[in-house]
Amino acid sequence: MPDNILRFLKGKKDYISGEEISSALGITRAAVWKKIRLLRSKGFIIAASPSKGYRLVSSPDLSIDEIRANVVGSFWRQVLFYEQLESTNETATALSVDKDIEGGVVILTDAQSRGKGRLGRTWVSPPGANIYMSIILKPELSPKDSTLLTLLAAVASATALRKASGLAVSIKWPNDLMIADKKAGGILTEVRFEPDKIKVAVIGIGINVNIEKKDFPDEIKNIATSLKEETGQAYARSNIIVLLLKEIEAWYKLLMKKGRGPLLEEWNELSCTIGKRVTVSSSKEVFAGKAEGIDEEGLLMIRLQSGVLKKVTAGDVTILK
Ligand code: BTN
Repeated sequence: MPDNILRFLKGKKDYISGEEISSALGITRAAVWKKIRLLRSKGFIIAASPSKGYRLVSSPDLSIDEIRANVVGSFWRQVLFYEQLESTNETATALSVDKDIEGGVVILTDAQSRGKGRLGRTWVSPPGANIYMSIILKPELSPKDSTLLTLLAAVASATALRKASGLAVSIKWPNDLMIADKKAGGILTEVRFEPDKIKVAVIGIGINVNIEKKDFPDEIKNIATSLKEETGQAYARSNIIVLLLKEIEAWYKLLMKKGRGPLLEEWNELSCTIGKRVTVSSSKEVFAGKAEGIDEEGLLMIRLQSGVLKKVTAGDVTILK
């Protein structure tokens, strides 16, 4: 695996000699050269000088080696990559049926032929542009707390996108990642339960990174956006994925250690829904009111005109101007 050599090259700003690499990794100079060639074949630009050694000049936009080198450890155990899938959530769900599978598995793809959105919708998933990722987790949580996982993924995603782009990415309840009033990403959590606890959770995250407006289908052209649309700049997907996986790990550990308090607080900070007048449409009804906050389980609390407080479990929220 070239991950170790990559970790090494990334850690150095300047040239590093083949000899230093070979003794640090305990492999021959010929093996070093073989790994360098393999990395180059995957799109890494590596300068080589007979007197100075090797220097990493640039990395491809989506590199599974780079992601693995940065995150795989005791929390993220495996990162799997596929050129194309129907849906990363479907693949993750199929894998998660294996009772021996551990939590901390990441499934990534470059394109989805049947990307799934919330409420039975399709998630637009062309190749070469965006992030389509599902993670398998096995948290010690009771079934009624499964919404916390969606809130966690939303907080981690908004934070990672803010760090990567400097944009004020916010969260529209329950899980839309918004830039201004357009959607740049979404989360689809699918959970299987045992009687009193979560058996396994699959959290799917889709982020519009480098897709351009002209490539969105007409129906969403005016309501969807991407990081590139907002800043005019292209982003390396690997960097964003690494930031995102690190945020998820940190928030997950905090949730397990300190409970839901800090997570709900941060969700409120990042939310663009709370305090606003909204309409909510579900399969059963449409109503308007003021979004007052989320409860302990992450349900949205709407104060109706009548003064009654109504809790929303699912639906589409539109923020009224
Ligand atoms: C939404 O409707 O807001 C949720 C969108 C979730 C899309 C992601 S892309 C990766 C994962 N695989 C899927 O099929 N869907 C989720």
